[in-house]
Amino acid sequence: MEFLKTKGEVKAEIVVNGAKKLEEYGFDGKDGEVLVLPEKKRIYVGIDEINSENLKIATSSIIKALKKYKFESVEITPPNTKDKDLLLSFFEGFILGDYEFDKYKSQKAKHPIKKIAINSKRDFEEIINEAKIRTSAINFVRDIVNSMPDEITPAKLASIAEEVAKENNIECKIYDENYLYDNGYHAFYSVAKASANPPRLIHLTYKPKNAKRKIVLVGKGLTYDSGGLSLKPSDFMVTMKSDKSGAVTVLGIIKAISELDLDIEVHAILGAAENMIGGNAYKPDDVLKAKNGKTIEVRNTDAEGRLVLADCLCYAQENIKDFDYIMDFATLTGACVVGLGEYTAGIMGFNKNTIEKAIKVGERRGEHFAYLPFNKYLPKLLKSNVADICNIASSRYGGALTAGLFLSEFIEKENKEKWTHFDIAGPAYVEKEWGYNPYGASGFGVDTLITFINSL
Ligand code: BES
Ligand code: ZN
Ligand code: ZN
Repeated sequence: MEFLKTKGEVKAEIVVNGAKKLEEYGFDGKDGEVLVLPEKKRIYVGIDEINSENLKIATSSIIKALKKYKFESVEITPPNTKDKDLLLSFFEGFILGDYEFDKYKSQKAKHPIKKIAINSKRDFEEIINEAKIRTSAINFVRDIVNSMPDEITPAKLASIAEEVAKENNIECKIYDENYLYDNGYHAFYSVAKASANPPRLIHLTYKPKNAKRKIVLVGKGLTYDSGGLSLKPSDFMVTMKSDKSGAVTVLGIIKAISELDLDIEVHAILGAAENMIGGNAYKPDDVLKAKNGKTIEVRNTDAEGRLVLADCLCYAQENIKDFDYIMDFATLTGACVVGLGEYTAGIMGFNKNTIEKAIKVGERRGEHFAYLPFNKYLPKLLKSNVADICNIASSRYGGALTAGLFLSEFIEKENKEKWTHFDIAGPAYVEKEWGYNPYGASGFGVDTLITFINSL
């Protein structure tokens, strides 16, 4: 895709809240309407108000119309605003809407380079450059998450991380199953132990000179979640290649941050494992000791993400000193999807300022986050009769909260206020197109976190 200052083959216009009506074509300029007039070389898209989400949707539907009618270029005037978020979203939508995953199709989609002719005297070079970095990270996440589990094993994810590190100014350390076992990361180790594809703990560091702040990002990287011996029913197992989304998201974020040259130190810890069955599988009734010494009664091997994350959080707190924030990203619970729907991520933690800020930044970037508050009655639900804590709650209700609370047990006292948990089980992977997102992986969270980190 190229953004140029020339004329285009067709002209596109974003119509806000019915400001323009084309009655002869039944176009009212309402939200979500798209009108293409191929003979007149015109495209109109309606939105109800100007915000980031709507602009991304509008420009993504323009690019889709362009593809459908085989136009090669489109001329459009960017919104008349100085708001960086709105402008970024305007440009991002074209690239995000152009995404197609056809890796496994024998008939590949044709991708002629599309030209976006920017009809304005203003200089958008910097914004366009940033939009390209952001969307290339988002599409990178989409590609890896969409790739099949037999291809993206923990070792493969580690080699992808190494490549990202090599191409950017990032350091990358990779630890294998022996390291995990020998160093007492037995919760993580146990989840992975029945798999023919051994686990990896991946630690990437982006360390600019004179960094203003230090942030640690931790991601759940289940390259496949069969449920383990507490096996998932067939219908629920499909799409579980997406259980690596949290890890891939943090990889995408650190990639973009380094390409943008931000002066914030970023660590990305990816817990990559496969949750499988076998004679060697960890079992309901096993008691596992995590790195911080806490013992965990396993009552359901499908609640595996929290076990992997528990040890990754321990690793981060032991090995990274004086960080300002520690945030984890995980497709952690079906309960979060039941509660909030597929388009919203849950946020949990003890620092309301951080949570409120993340929600606000999400709005600015067109992504939805909702605060799920802990309360004093919940901890009791994780009590175990045989170990320090149980890996599932005794209640059927509030599964997203009890999972988040489980993680908090592996956050040291002095870090409690620095920790935020993002359950992205809903929006990370949706089996239908939504807004500017395609079927499958969305790359959700990358855009918001880049802005969040940039604002520290
Ligand atoms: N990976 C799943 C959560 C999930 C479900 C993600 C649906 C995306 C879509 C997780 O490991 C899991 O299986 N969680 C269980 C927890 C339960 C056993 C307490 C769940 O949500 O059912
Ligand atoms: Zn599971
Ligand atoms: Zn899982």
